[in-house]
Amino acid sequence: MKKLFVTGGAGFIGSAFIRLVLEKMPSTSITNFDALTYAGNRDNLEDIDSAQHRFIHGDICDRAAVMSALEKNTDAIVHFAAESHVDRSIASADAFLRTNVLGTQVLLDAARARHVKRFVQISTDEVMGSLPDDDAEYFTESSPFAPNSPYAASKAAAEHLVRAAHQTFGLDTLITRCGNNYGPRQFPEKLIPLLLANALRNESIPVYGDGLNVRDWIHVDDHCRAILTVLEKGRAGNVYLIGARNPRRNLDVVLDVLHQLGKPSSLIRHVKDRSGHDRRYAIDPTKIERELGWQPAETWQSGLAKTILWYQKNSQWIERTRSGAYREYYSDQYGTELAPKAAA
Ligand SMILES: NC(=O)c1ccc[n+]([C@@H]2O[C@H](COP(=O)([O-])OP(=O)(O)OC[C@H]3O[C@@H](n4cnc5c(N)ncnc54)[C@H](O)[C@@H]3O)[C@@H](O)[C@H]2O)c1
Repeated sequence: MKKLFVTGGAGFIGSAFIRLVLEKMPSTSITNFDALTYAGNRDNLEDIDSAQHRFIHGDICDRAAVMSALEKNTDAIVHFAAESHVDRSIASADAFLRTNVLGTQVLLDAARARHVKRFVQISTDEVMGSLPDDDAEYFTESSPFAPNSPYAASKAAAEHLVRAAHQTFGLDTLITRCGNNYGPRQFPEKLIPLLLANALRNESIPVYGDGLNVRDWIHVDDHCRAILTVLEKGRAGNVYLIGARNPRRNLDVVLDVLHQLGKPSSLIRHVKDRSGHDRRYAIDPTKIERELGWQPAETWQSGLAKTILWYQKNSQWIERTRSGAYREYYSDQYGTELAPKAAA
């Protein structure tokens, strides 16, 4: 792979993927195409000082901008750009349909027009809905689609478009579906960074409903290594589930982090449950393990310890992401204000 076009590379996972590629394949050049929405952050690229990385500020729904940024001889498009937060999709689905559905089709069209060799769609386990609340069942590549939130529905629609581009036009496509990521540089609306940012400031931690919803957690670097493996070795037209065999209840995640930080469980504040809240996600990653030889490198303990350390060391990053519109979003969502500035 000599030339990659990465969308959403100023976000949480996209920026980790770019860092990984530049480390493992230093002769690969990357065009990072990102609209810098509230979730995109140039700070996430601060330490990427490479002649191999070209940032372009652009919207994937803007066909002309995509076509002009996408160079001939691009080996692959790795498509991360998305509206990615379920709660925001419940408040309003418009941006989700626009970016996640229409934007994906623009990229598929551009890939064909520029003869891009591979197209990797970064999708989510949420397209498969919710599993029964026992430990017996796992998602596999043949689980049916059953999206329950507007976010999940928009990601499912995008997957259908990717599949159609493969079936109808023979585009070499791959789809990855991963569980919940955690790690450095995740926007603090998501559970683990919200929990860390609040706990480090002794602020209360909102937990939806009874907190017993199960998510399958993976360190972002393991997810990115899996994407790179799929990009290099995946079979065209295939879907690969990515998971670290690490399903955990939200409340246990919160208690675990509080314990690691030496903070009291009295910081937990149960809030009204999210509408349509999926109860349980759990991934069977046998296909990617057996077929492509991928395995996660981090355990929950090692990944969490690294993540906690990063947020402890990067309080400036947290302060900047928690400023402005995020404060309004937070008070609308949880009915409480964030503290004006770091108390500790
Ligand atoms: N975070 C997770 O746990 C998780 C799990 C599975 C799959 N995914 C998928 O991985 C991808 C990346 O997720 P993330 O957590 O890094 O998201 P994120 O919200 O942190 O970042 C999304 C990025 O996309 C950019 N973007 C949004 N709309 C755009 C547009 N119209 N044009 C160009 N850029 C645009 C944003 O500026 C931002 O940089 C998403 O497709 C998401 O569905 C995420």
